[in-house]
Amino acid sequence: MSPIKKVVVFGGPGSFATPIANALVKAQFDVLIIVRPECAMNFPPNVSVVRVDHTVVRLKPVLWGADAVVSVIGSAGLSVQNTLIDAAEAAGVKRFILDDFGWVPDSTELIEFKCLGSSKRITFEHVRDVAQAHPKFTFTGVAIGFPIDWSLKCFPSMGFDARKHSAVIYDDGTEDFTGTTLEGIGQAVVGVLQNPGKTENQFLKVRSIRTNQNELLAAFQSVTGETWDVKHSTTKEVLKRAKERRKRGIKEWMLDVLIYHLYEPGKARCFIASDEEPALDLLKIRQETAHEIASKVLGSVKEVPERKWAMR
Ligand SMILES: NC(=O)c1ccc[n+]([C@@H]2O[C@H](COP(=O)([O-])OP(=O)(O)OC[C@H]3O[C@@H](n4cnc5c(N)ncnc54)[C@H](OP(=O)(O)O)[C@@H]3O)[C@@H](O)[C@H]2O)c1
Repeated sequence: MSPIKKVVVFGGPGSFATPIANALVKAQFDVLIIVRPECAMNFPPNVSVVRVDHTVVRLKPVLWGADAVVSVIGSAGLSVQNTLIDAAEAAGVKRFILDDFGWVPDSTELIEFKCLGSSKRITFEHVRDVAQAHPKFTFTGVAIGFPIDWSLKCFPSMGFDARKHSAVIYDDGTEDFTGTTLEGIGQAVVGVLQNPGKTENQFLKVRSIRTNQNELLAAFQSVTGETWDVKHSTTKEVLKRAKERRKRGIKEWMLDVLIYHLYEPGKARCFIASDEEPALDLLKIRQETAHEIASKVLGSVKEVPERKWAMR
């Protein structure tokens, strides 16, 4: 496949689209951001942005000449992803990076996750079918597991409150998991587009760190030079709370399920990428330390308010 130069990013103002677009610009790709007409975000003047309805008819002329599309439209936008795929194929785009950035399709037996997974699966099956029918059109999915610096910054109930310097350790805090930082997510997309031949028509697994709660707590305490206020809980209690909240229609139940999914002892459910995962070298994903990640989280909480959980 010829080198990829012009890249279109959908989902411009989103939490992941922004660092991805920044990483693409830094890597010298020619980047265009496409947003919906109602998008209220003001982009810097040096960023190329087109506001257009997300239909095949409207998108096809805008996508003409693009080599790749990166879809980061979030859960709320997943219903239009098949339209983006069809428009990209019709416009001659060579590579479509799927909106996923999740946990590998079908990574869990947890029944509570099935509703989240099903809409991603529908669009994954569609992109695979389109790629089979049109060999010049290819796709890549990127599984990142736990978006570690972003999640720890936004959701203190995941165990670390970087504003209050307090923590909740679930069970004994030793369950290992892998996580990818926003830097790692941006580099994963850059790496895919710099290696189109080796990354086509597959899901790749990436990570920036392998860690656990105890290691992160030690890192947070070391960076702040303080002993944090630590409470203990269990993943069983969190699952019980999730079920009660779900019954009562309290939307944070899904965050509780994520905590259970991440920390339940002995399951390694969130161990997405091993040390030997080939994509780490191929995409040049820098491995980060717990200390670096704690520093990033502590630095960034000054900039953003705590987020309320919402299915977006
Ligand atoms: N692994 C994990 O634990 C984890 C955690 C969080 C997110 N993720 C994944 O990362 C991806 C991006 O999530 P995010 O948090 O960055 O999303 P986000 O912040 O909600 O941003 C999504 C963007 O998509 C666009 N959008 C929203 N609704 C749309 C619609 N109906 N039609 C078209 N576009 C729409 C919006 O941009 P415009 O206004 O431009 O249209 C919005 O800024 C998602 O696939 C999500 O599943 C994974």
